[in-house]
Amino acid sequence: MTSAETPHAGRYPAGSAAFPHRGLLGIAGLAPHEILFLLDEAEQWVGLNRQPKKRADRLAGLTIINAFFENSTRTLLSFEIAGKRLGADVVNMAVAQSSVKKGETLIDTAMTLNAMHADAIVIRHGSSGAVRLIADKVDCPVLNAGDGQHEHPTQALLDALTIRHAVRPRNGGEIGGLTVVICGDILHSRVARSNILCLTSLGADVRVCAPPALMPTGIERMNVTPFHDFDAALEGADVVMMLRLQQERMQGQFIPSPREYRHLYGLTLDRLAKARPDALVMHPGPMNRGVEIDSNVADLIGRSHITRQVEMGVAMRMACLDVLTRTARGMEGWVMAENGR
Ligand code: NCD
Repeated sequence: MTSAETPHAGRYPAGSAAFPHRGLLGIAGLAPHEILFLLDEAEQWVGLNRQPKKRADRLAGLTIINAFFENSTRTLLSFEIAGKRLGADVVNMAVAQSSVKKGETLIDTAMTLNAMHADAIVIRHGSSGAVRLIADKVDCPVLNAGDGQHEHPTQALLDALTIRHAVRPRNGGEIGGLTVVICGDILHSRVARSNILCLTSLGADVRVCAPPALMPTGIERMNVTPFHDFDAALEGADVVMMLRLQQERMQGQFIPSPREYRHLYGLTLDRLAKARPDALVMHPGPMNRGVEIDSNVADLIGRSHITRQVEMGVAMRMACLDVLTRTARGMEGWVMAENGR
């Protein structure tokens, strides 16, 4: 599928003006049509990834470095598979064995990566803003794979792609007008933040639900409706997105006990019945089964889209890597991208 054939063609400017950014540091700063453009670009990769031979040579000869300073299973694997399916040489920096452990500063690490002429660098870091710090020091596009409590833009994009696919039979794939509930540790979650920015930008009605201690003050300013009562938040919802309690970011006691938390904020089958009968269940992973989500909900066939999110993650990351390296591939103005595929 070419850009010209994608469902929203005509809704965004032609060529490189469709996505005039050097990197992907967050959803903040992206226009709705830029988000739609990335979603549309990902469609071709959803198709390719379902074929037995999943290889395109779009990024042949390019080097992509994944530098993950924080633990990750699906995001790291997903970026690695995405780069490899596009034919790039993908290198995962082993942070635990790196000079970072010898006290090297982030800026020195960035300059080292830059000297190796990477064509794209994917970074996950425990500190909010660390990815931007590196992006300012290197010549190639930088993709944020999660920085502290700040943003996780590819997660929000893959979630939007998942929702779009799931609602396509119902309404043609329109996210605008859907009611999405995001429930859990909103305070510490970069996934919540990026999803709020992405979904509100696409016109969804977003409700956030958390115990008072895990709800950021002033969250209404992000154009969402806050709830402390999960049952009330679920009323008529189209999408229910559950989040993990991010214990590693908590200093002190934020919840009485996991048992108590499940009682008030866990997604059980009974609770799910409050949402629309066809409401989607989502979770970015890793899940704590029996805490924020019961196993029989997480595995509910036809309703749980959790593994679909992982599938869409690869396609979305392929789209981001492809779009962001077009200029580096000599496609100034992306004329080749439009005529040549
Ligand atoms: C999330 C993350 O790391 O921000 N996971 C992910 O990327 N799939 C959420 C989490 O850790 O709970």
